[in-house]
Amino acid sequence: MTAARDRRRALGGVLYGADYNPEQWPADVWPEDVALMRQAGVTCVSVGIFAWARIQPTEQSFDFAWLDRILDLLHDGGIGVNLATATASPPPWVSNRYPEILPSDENGARFWPGSRQHFAPSSPRYRQLAGRLVRRIAERYADHPAVVLWHVGNEFGCHLPMDFSDAARDAFRDWLRDAYDGIDALNDAWGTDFWSQRYHDFDEVFPPRKAPYSRNPAAMLDFRRFTSDMWLQCYLAERRILRDAGAGQPITTNLMGPFKPADYARWAPHLDVIADDCYPDPADPHAVRHAAFQRDLMRSLKPGVPWLLMEQAADAVSWRPFNLGKRPGRLAAETAQCIGRGADGIMFFQWRQSRAGSEKFHSAMLPHAGTGTRTWRDVVTLGETIAALPALPPPGRDARVALVFDWENWWAVEERDHPTTLDYLELVRRWYRALHRRHLMVDIVAAERVDDGYDLVIAPQLYLLREAGAATLASFVEGGGTLLVTPFSDIVDEHDRFRPGGFLTQLGPLLGIRLTDFGVLVPPGGVGVGERTAPFTDARGTAVGTLLAEEIHAVDAEVVAVFGTGAPAMTSRTVGTGRALYLATIPDEQGTQHLVDGLIELTGVRPVVEGLPPFVEAARRGDLVTLVNHGERSVTIAVGGTDVLAHAEVRHVVLEPDGFAFLHVPTSEESP
Ligand code: GLA
Repeated sequence: MTAARDRRRALGGVLYGADYNPEQWPADVWPEDVALMRQAGVTCVSVGIFAWARIQPTEQSFDFAWLDRILDLLHDGGIGVNLATATASPPPWVSNRYPEILPSDENGARFWPGSRQHFAPSSPRYRQLAGRLVRRIAERYADHPAVVLWHVGNEFGCHLPMDFSDAARDAFRDWLRDAYDGIDALNDAWGTDFWSQRYHDFDEVFPPRKAPYSRNPAAMLDFRRFTSDMWLQCYLAERRILRDAGAGQPITTNLMGPFKPADYARWAPHLDVIADDCYPDPADPHAVRHAAFQRDLMRSLKPGVPWLLMEQAADAVSWRPFNLGKRPGRLAAETAQCIGRGADGIMFFQWRQSRAGSEKFHSAMLPHAGTGTRTWRDVVTLGETIAALPALPPPGRDARVALVFDWENWWAVEERDHPTTLDYLELVRRWYRALHRRHLMVDIVAAERVDDGYDLVIAPQLYLLREAGAATLASFVEGGGTLLVTPFSDIVDEHDRFRPGGFLTQLGPLLGIRLTDFGVLVPPGGVGVGERTAPFTDARGTAVGTLLAEEIHAVDAEVVAVFGTGAPAMTSRTVGTGRALYLATIPDEQGTQHLVDGLIELTGVRPVVEGLPPFVEAARRGDLVTLVNHGERSVTIAVGGTDVLAHAEVRHVVLEPDGFAFLHVPTSEESP
């Protein structure tokens, strides 16, 4: 028990390290690895993620000698181990002997071995084989002093958003039996009287494989829930084995930010610490804000608990068609962003660049070209910075703004056969970008997680709105909060069915409006006769709406913006000291900024630091304020506090391009 507590404590500082794949190298390289890790300030490495074939070369044999040696070498070097369960890539003997573990695409065509993740998560045989492997690893290493953390699987679902195999078919039927109280309940939920789809037995149901035409949207939605659950079950099964074998260390798996196939909000309670892999695309003009969104999403999954950046690239990745490198300074700037937004671990894929295989061009902490490289120098410098950081405060209730983001809604709102086609993540992130430009801390949560700790809540395209979510949003407004509801919200229930009584059946009374038409516009860049945009004007000016210009009626609300036609574009209803706002169109980038600026005026929400240019990022984490200059010129920022790296009181900081600062600024004193 004491040992377990000590190991937990070992996660206390900011971890620095990487995936380490020593099995790709001769044993005489390993001591050099450890020596260089020490030089780089590495404190933790993830070992064995893809080592199943080395640990269990045949079904009957296990070889732990090499892993024993690695763990001992690392421990002697003072480096902690995030030990993997090694189940992410079954070895060739598994696929040959048990081809039933292989997953299938929607046509029923198998995915064959030769890459990785070629297993059906619902396959009982895969789970049995993986379980046996994990048990052996756990029994051997649960008490190893090097092990500080467990890494279950790897990026569950990454390459296999949905599996339609026969294993999935059988498991889906069982999943439905659990979810529904009899086949008639399923018929009702799925609306199977449409197109003669009525079932008489759960065994008549198939996974929604390729069909001649549009598949039942409620079946698709349940199949997505099922898929997320299958990956989660793989994680949970391995977690249980680790705990049963006496492993007391924290257990996690690496998430992938806003990853559509897995509902991480449902996963989060089962991870002791949230771990994330993030590879900002240098070619994405919004890379900084999208990365910030991802960090905030990770922080919001487990409030108050620092998360770990499990993987980032030291320089270029290898899996995009064009792999731009990071310009000098970017690595440290991106790292500072993570720490500012709640990370207590900065890890890379990977330690030493591979010499063979699909990822040999992927950058690493230790490049193939060796230590005489900029990447290596940057990695060493970053290690020094991280080592110099004091213990950091846990993320607090630092955000007064919440953005509603919901996986079930994501799945449902992007189904086909809707009035228009929406890219949910893009629309949510458009609001986030506007908030980020104004230096507001934002939590990213499901509607059910909204509470009176927030002043402003924005709910983009909340098409599928559960009763509990609607109730939470209503009590938020009744408690004095300001809620903005946007078009195509509160349309269906959790089975993608219209609720009786039209649209906005739950939020309509709160908003004081009725919705009678979606008013579809020609999409930006699309062809067609009709309006492409819907300009709207409020007290602060005119902005552009796109995609939808809904026909709404203010029954018990004030019209605060109108379309060019004079029809209401935005309404506001006062509820006590709270406000329920409705927007009837989807604003473009500038229009979104225009509205966010208006909401800031209306609610008085404050930036982390006042007066910053939009290219400087500011984040608050308890008493720690992080500033990062993502711009191309040096900037002087008036802010009082203690520079925690320089150990000096400051009244202002000067940030060069890609420069950053960590300041201790108690919550009420952010301005000089
Ligand atoms: C993912 C995986 C790693 C590696 C990196 C490359 O994050 O988890 O194994 O493939 O991508 O960027």
